[in-house]
Amino acid sequence: MRLSSTGAFLRALRDARIKAFPEQSVSQSNEIDPKKTQALSEESQQENNHAQFLASQPQHKIIKDAATSRSGVNILGRPYVFDSTTNVTESILGLVGRKLYDTPNHPIAITRKLIQSVFRPPRFEHHTAADPVVSTNDNFDVLGFPADHPGRSRTDTYYVDSKTVLRTHTSAHQHAAFRGLRHRGDSGYTICADVYRRDSIDRSHFPVFHQMEAACVWKLRPPKEGIHTRLQQQDARAHHIRSNTEGIPRHDLEIIDEAGSYDDQTNPVQIVHDPDEAQLVVENLKRSLENLVQKVFVAAQAAQPDVKHEPLKVRWIEAYFPFTSPSFELEVFWQGDWLELLGCGVTKQEILDNAGLRDHIGWAWGLGIERLAMVLFDIPDIRLFWSQDERFLKQFKQGQITRFKSFSKYPPCYKDISFWVRPSPAAASPIGAQSSSGAAAAAGGDATKASPADTQPAAFHENDIMEIVRDVAGTLAEDVKLVDEFVHPKTGKKSLCYRVNYRSHERTLTNEETNDMHEKVTRKVAELPVEIR
Ligand code: DAH
Repeated sequence: MRLSSTGAFLRALRDARIKAFPEQSVSQSNEIDPKKTQALSEESQQENNHAQFLASQPQHKIIKDAATSRSGVNILGRPYVFDSTTNVTESILGLVGRKLYDTPNHPIAITRKLIQSVFRPPRFEHHTAADPVVSTNDNFDVLGFPADHPGRSRTDTYYVDSKTVLRTHTSAHQHAAFRGLRHRGDSGYTICADVYRRDSIDRSHFPVFHQMEAACVWKLRPPKEGIHTRLQQQDARAHHIRSNTEGIPRHDLEIIDEAGSYDDQTNPVQIVHDPDEAQLVVENLKRSLENLVQKVFVAAQAAQPDVKHEPLKVRWIEAYFPFTSPSFELEVFWQGDWLELLGCGVTKQEILDNAGLRDHIGWAWGLGIERLAMVLFDIPDIRLFWSQDERFLKQFKQGQITRFKSFSKYPPCYKDISFWVRPSPAAASPIGAQSSSGAAAAAGGDATKASPADTQPAAFHENDIMEIVRDVAGTLAEDVKLVDEFVHPKTGKKSLCYRVNYRSHERTLTNEETNDMHEKVTRKVAELPVEIR
C-alpha cells in the first residue's frame, strides 16, 4: 500500500479485504511510516476525499477525478484508487457481483450443490465469498507463491492496484478459512466463488469463472489414559484418519494411479510429516474425490440415456502447487478424452501452522465449476453461463442434471486484424503460447508468458488483444485465434494476423454493429506496441 494511504481511505481498503471472508488476513505492507505521514497529510486528505467521492459513485464505473486527475472505482460499495499497475476494465468489473453460484436454477449453482452434497456438514462448512477483491498477500504470498510466479503477471491477472487483485482462485480465502477451523477439531470447509483471469478467448475460456475449493483437517488427539507422548497422540490421530476413510462409500470406478509413489525431488512428502500419516491423508483425499467423481458422473450419464457410456475411469497424476505437497491432478475419461478435473494435495504444514492449526494435518483440492458443468449439462460454450436469455435459464431446475438443448444457430462473423510487432528488447513475446487452462495452472499464469516482474510489459502480449476484444465485444466475442504469422525477411519484423469471431447466442448480429465493434478493437490495438497493417 502506498504511504499516502491513510485515514478513512486506508480503513475502507482494509475493510474491503476483511469483508471478503471472515478474518481475511491484511497485508503487512498496509503499515504507515509515521515519519512520512505528516508530510503527506495534504495528499492524504485529497485521497480521503477521492475515496469518499468514489464510494458515492455508481458501481463498477471507472471514474476520473478532474481535480486530482486520478482514476478509481467503486466495487461492491468500496472505493479503490487506481495506480500504474491497474488493469481492470469496466467490462470485467461489470461481471462482478452476479452470484451465479447462488442463483438456484442456474447450472453453476446446481453443480455447486451437487459437489456440496458429497462433502457434508457438520464436518464441512460451506462458504461463498461475494467480494472478489483481495490482497496480493492473500492471493499469492500466504500460499507460498514465489515472487516470479507467472500467475502474478499483470498480463494474466487483473490488478485493481499494485497490492490488490481480483482473486485468481478461491485459494485466496484458504488462510481465512483455515483460521475459521481453529476451534473445531477434525473439520473442513468448502468455498465457492467467482474468480478472474486474463486469458484467451474461446468456447472454454471466459475471464470470469467459478471455482470450488475444499479442505479437511484432523487434529492431534488430546493426552489421556495410555496416550501421553506426541507420537502416541499422532497415532491416535492416524487411527481416526484411517477410520474416516473406511467410512467413505465404495465406488466401482476403474482407477489408474500414476502418482502412487512420491518422488523426493518432484513430489515429496513434507519433511515435517510422518510418511505413514501423510499416506493416510492422501488415501482419504483420493477416496473422497473418487467418491465425488462417482456421484457427479453417474448423474451426468443418467442425463444422457441415449448415449452408450463406457464404465467410468479416472486417472491420478503428479502435479505441483505451491501450497500442497505431495500434489495431484485427477482426470476423468469422458466421451473419448481425458478431462482434467481438479488439483489437490496434502496442505503445506506451514500454511496450517500460520493459520493457527499447528496440531492439524490435512488435505485440500480445487476445481473449476464451468468445466464440470459443461460436461454435466452438455453446454457447448462457456459464455452461455452468463446468458440472461430465458431460453437458456428456463432449461434448468434445482437439483437436476439435464441436457442443454441448443436454441440458437446464429451466424458467426469473422473479422481479421493484422499488424507488425515492433521488435522489443523484452522479447518474451508470448505469441500463440498454449493457454494455461489446466488444473495445474495454480492461480493462473503461464510459464511461457511474460515475466511477472514486468508490471508494464513493453513487448506485445497476446492477452492484451484478448482483453481489448473482451472490453469492446463482451460476450459477443466467441473466439480469437492467431491465423497467420511470418517474419519479414529484410526488416526482421514479425507480422501477426488474429481472426475475431463475433457471434451472439441470442440474435443475429448486424453487419453494421460487427463492423463498429471491429473498428473499435482495431483503434485500441493500435495503441499497443504494434503497427496496424
Ligand atoms: N488454486 C488452484 C488453481 O487455481 C486449485 C487448487 C489446487 C486448490 C490444489 C487447492 C489445492 O486447494 O489443494 O488451479
